Amino acid sequence: PHDLNCLTISELEKLAADRMDKQTRDYYNEGADSGSTLAENIAAYQKYRIRPRVLRDISSIDTSVNIFGHRNSIPLGVAPTAMQCLAHDDGELATARACKQMGVVMGLSSFSTTSLEDVKGALGEHPGALQLYLFEEREHSRKLIQRAKKAGYKAVMLTVDTPVLGRRNLEIRNQFKLPSHLKVANFNRDDDDDDQGVKIKDKIASTNEGRKRSSETESPKRTPPTGPITFHTHAPNPTLNWERDITWLQSQCHPEMQVWVKGIATAEDALLACHHGVDGIIVSNHGGRQLNGALATIDALPEVVEAVRSQSKNIPVHIDGGVRHGTDVFKALALGADFVWVGRPVLWGLAYKGQEGVELALKLLEDEFRLCMGLAGVTRVEDIGKEYLVKMDRSGF
Ligand code: FNR
Repeated sequence: PHDLNCLTISELEKLAADRMDKQTRDYYNEGADSGSTLAENIAAYQKYRIRPRVLRDISSIDTSVNIFGHRNSIPLGVAPTAMQCLAHDDGELATARACKQMGVVMGLSSFSTTSLEDVKGALGEHPGALQLYLFEEREHSRKLIQRAKKAGYKAVMLTVDTPVLGRRNLEIRNQFKLPSHLKVANFNRDDDDDDQGVKIKDKIASTNEGRKRSSETESPKRTPPTGPITFHTHAPNPTLNWERDITWLQSQCHPEMQVWVKGIATAEDALLACHHGVDGIIVSNHGGRQLNGALATIDALPEVVEAVRSQSKNIPVHIDGGVRHGTDVFKALALGADFVWVGRPVLWGLAYKGQEGVELALKLLEDEFRLCMGLAGVTRVEDIGKEYLVKMDRSGF
């Protein structure tokens, strides 16, 4: 049964636009600066055309793949996007239920408007990955990681493309603010006491005092953020680095949870990620919300894949950004990605019809992907290779 009002992701985008207030629509849809990287993430897929093979008996097609020890119905997951209760009252719970229903792995933003425990409750045995921003105040991150482990998340994805926040002009103009009935549910909780019963925020205030004093000698300008944890104050962390932070994160997460890095865009960093023993890479530019002018992710993918495959330990390479059709999933896989993640289409589904809308978004992409496999003459995901693609030059664009 089709939803006759909505047969494509671009129709879903329009339907969703009417259902969101301006602040939410702008926040979800915009890219950084002029938005050219956001637009290119989408357009760059058009440079590739598919070379279909025929007469291959495609009567039985298997679109599924393994991820985090589970069978995923398609090589696609829901990318972590913040504050989903802005789109629909059921927010992240609706997304989790839809993911479970559709057999699709869910990435949860640290800045969710539903707690990670409640989201995992809705997922049940179905796999979830928690997106992390590593805070300068380590204690906050340590607690969050412990909670994710206890709740049963399979992996953390450390977002590494956010040392500072990209410039999002609509967000600035709208003076974006979470409405008072919503909160960032993983932080600033009344029960954020440490073992001695000291309020975390008091502890942090005193730690920061200490930090400020000791750092005055090294770098007088740097003061880590204090006060309640918000996306704008705490997510960007300019001090993040490979040596100290990845090693620390692995010590906190392993062996129960894998450590992935999200936001790799070059071969150089892919090699460093391999060198530091991460469990997987997500090629991402944050949906064009960080460095505008950065390469479209599908254009960055080949160099990352080549770098990773040159290493003796082969780690998975995933990609997100600009995936709006099942053929995009096929193209990303043909260029060497193992799996793709989608951000905005899920938010549009949520805004359109809550859980049902997210299921619709995932179903459209699944149907399109299955159709693409069949029409291209492929019956197994692992057989999708670069022989199925041709890159057009400018004149063919
Ligand atoms: C994001 N993204 C994101 N990424 C992350 O690591 N942590 C986060 O909290 C968020 N929040 C967020 C909010 C909104 C509104 C959007 C649109 C995106 C980025 C996200 O995980 C993913 O990289 C992109 O959304 C992928 O691009 P598409 O699929 O939206 O084009």
